[in-house]
Amino acid sequence: MNEQERIVALRAELHRHNHNYYVLNQPTISDQEFDALLRELQDLEARHPELFDPNSPTQRVGSDLSNEFQTFRHTRPMLSLANTYNKEEVREYYERVREGLQGEPFEICCELKFDGLSISLHYEDGRLVRAVTRGDGEQGDDVTANVRTIRSIPLQLASPADSSSSPSTSAPSASSSNLFSRDSIAVPWPREFEIRGEILMPWTSFEALNREREAREEPLFANPRNAASGTLKSKQTSVVAERHLDAYLYYLLGDNLPAEGHYENLLHARSWGFKVSDAMRKVHTLQEIYDFIDYWDTARRDLPVATDGIVLKVNDLRQQRALGMTAKSPRWAIAYKFQAEQQSTILREVTFQVGRTGAVTPVANMDPVQLSGTIVRRATLHNADFMAQLDLHLGDHVLVEKGGEIIPKIVAVDTTFLTPDRGPRVEFIRRCPECGAELVRFEGEAAWYCPNDSHCPPQIKGRIEHFVSRRAMNIDTLGPETIDDFYNRGLIRDIADLYELNVDQLNGAHGERQRSASKTIQAIADSRQVPFERVLFALGIRFVGEQMAKILARSFKNIDALSRARLDDLLQINGVGQAIAESVIRWFQDADNIFLLERLRAHGLQFQLSEDVLAAQSDRLAGQSVVISGVFSHHSRDEYKALIEQHGGKNVGSISKKTSFILAGENMGPSKLEKAQKLGILILSEDQFLAMIEE
Ligand code: IVH
Repeated sequence: MNEQERIVALRAELHRHNHNYYVLNQPTISDQEFDALLRELQDLEARHPELFDPNSPTQRVGSDLSNEFQTFRHTRPMLSLANTYNKEEVREYYERVREGLQGEPFEICCELKFDGLSISLHYEDGRLVRAVTRGDGEQGDDVTANVRTIRSIPLQLASPADSSSSPSTSAPSASSSNLFSRDSIAVPWPREFEIRGEILMPWTSFEALNREREAREEPLFANPRNAASGTLKSKQTSVVAERHLDAYLYYLLGDNLPAEGHYENLLHARSWGFKVSDAMRKVHTLQEIYDFIDYWDTARRDLPVATDGIVLKVNDLRQQRALGMTAKSPRWAIAYKFQAEQQSTILREVTFQVGRTGAVTPVANMDPVQLSGTIVRRATLHNADFMAQLDLHLGDHVLVEKGGEIIPKIVAVDTTFLTPDRGPRVEFIRRCPECGAELVRFEGEAAWYCPNDSHCPPQIKGRIEHFVSRRAMNIDTLGPETIDDFYNRGLIRDIADLYELNVDQLNGAHGERQRSASKTIQAIADSRQVPFERVLFALGIRFVGEQMAKILARSFKNIDALSRARLDDLLQINGVGQAIAESVIRWFQDADNIFLLERLRAHGLQFQLSEDVLAAQSDRLAGQSVVISGVFSHHSRDEYKALIEQHGGKNVGSISKKTSFILAGENMGPSKLEKAQKLGILILSEDQFLAMIEE
């Protein structure tokens, strides 16, 4: 076997092992053996760049290069389904189908409704050629590069020929002769077809991801659907590859499908290597549909992925065509949505939590109750208005619900248990539970705030946590627990106190070991080199996030100029609105903040833009909005973004009348190009752009 043949054989073998592992859950070789084969293939491919294949198993790991999504118009629109919420509505659907088919017998295919994001996969000659998101149903984003990293999606289907003869490629698997070990391929796949399904993040991956994000102090994903959707939109395929997405397929489309039944087509698709759920039943009566619903209403709790209902489809394709569709959804299919799981328990106490910004959130403390796999003791009551609407009394039975979000909520008082002698009504507090200050409410906002920002403990600790966080001062040895501990020992009351800590203090009462104490002190000292724009973000001025801090730093160049800025000066800056401007002015008018700044200055923090940034800065792009598109060769996309900002311009995502020009690399997206031409917007190449800012 020459190297070229070996490459072909290894690819086929690795595809088969991926299928065994990720689709069938039945690996036939160890991870080490798999890795050895993959490495062998990587080495061979490196020696034969002319044999590059985007669908090779080696491409599943993704890359760090930034990729652009192009818009793709769906060949057939991606419709949604009408929803039903109870069995009565399901019966009405069943009757409508019966009438529509004028008494003809029919079968219904019952399936799970997966709660992820829908995807359309296109195959030609057994190879994945395109993966498109639903978008608005008419057109979506081409996310092929990202989808290739999802291991359970086949990149190369078992070829019909494989089922009879295929060269065995290495000893451990020499026994199996067809590409996929479960079903032999009775019916070949059409040369061209589309298959639709759902991309999901399994619960275990979702929980692991959120744990990691929590440790890095990044915002958590509310549910696996958001996590999957955020992941699929990532510009780096390597990020997608690491996130362990999965995919279930449920709809085969094309002109030459193997069978006249939906269910039968999915069975064929399964034999070609697709992950088709086992929870799929073909039934003949309404009662069987109800049984399917009742069974999965509870059994779904043990599934590895999130589901939010059942989908019912008329099985026969001819009957589907006869029933047709309404403007939005097919008449032959319907979704039945599960009730979010609810439990009744007793309300014991309402406590109030104060966040970093001073916002106060009411929290219900209840008798523990089992809900969607976890024990729940606390549930949010959102805000004072929500709480008042519920008319809660201590000792009430309350209904707790865990919907798509992680934090359970109270939805109602369970009136079946209501007695005339209820406990006292729960009232929202008037004073901060942490510091006693009288709460205030801002015009147009639902939350009550504690205004005592400089002396209220959770606000102080919250600000310090923000100050040390990764994207601010990045003092990673200080987690929330350490900050809490230092605060309780009286070592820190504000961010400047951090720079006055010494090793002996940390060593002292807490018994922290010398090494970790000096490491902490060193990390704090090192943070004095953090550039001005991040220091500004770290201060935690209301409405001044990471981007705004950059804009303010570049406009004012140092903290003194910023502190002297008047409302008008601020409002003139692109992106600064009334609320931000007022918040900045208010912050610099506060004597406590001025004193804090002086102490930080004395400790050597960066209060002005660095020489490098200043030297590189100009106003050449002042007031200009620039769109970046395509692939670049001189600088990375992020470097171009930084260059635009350095020269006073603004990088924006999409083309509009307001766009000043487009910085275009190779392969600019066709839809962007068309739009730019239509609006008559200037398109600059990399070289032209660089010449322009170097002038
Ligand atoms: S079939 C024309 N089957 O639900 C029928 N959809 O509101 C097209 N979904 O956008 C869809 N599980 O994202 C179908 N077994 C299943 C499904 C399913 C989840 C999603 C899909 C679709 C939405 C419909």
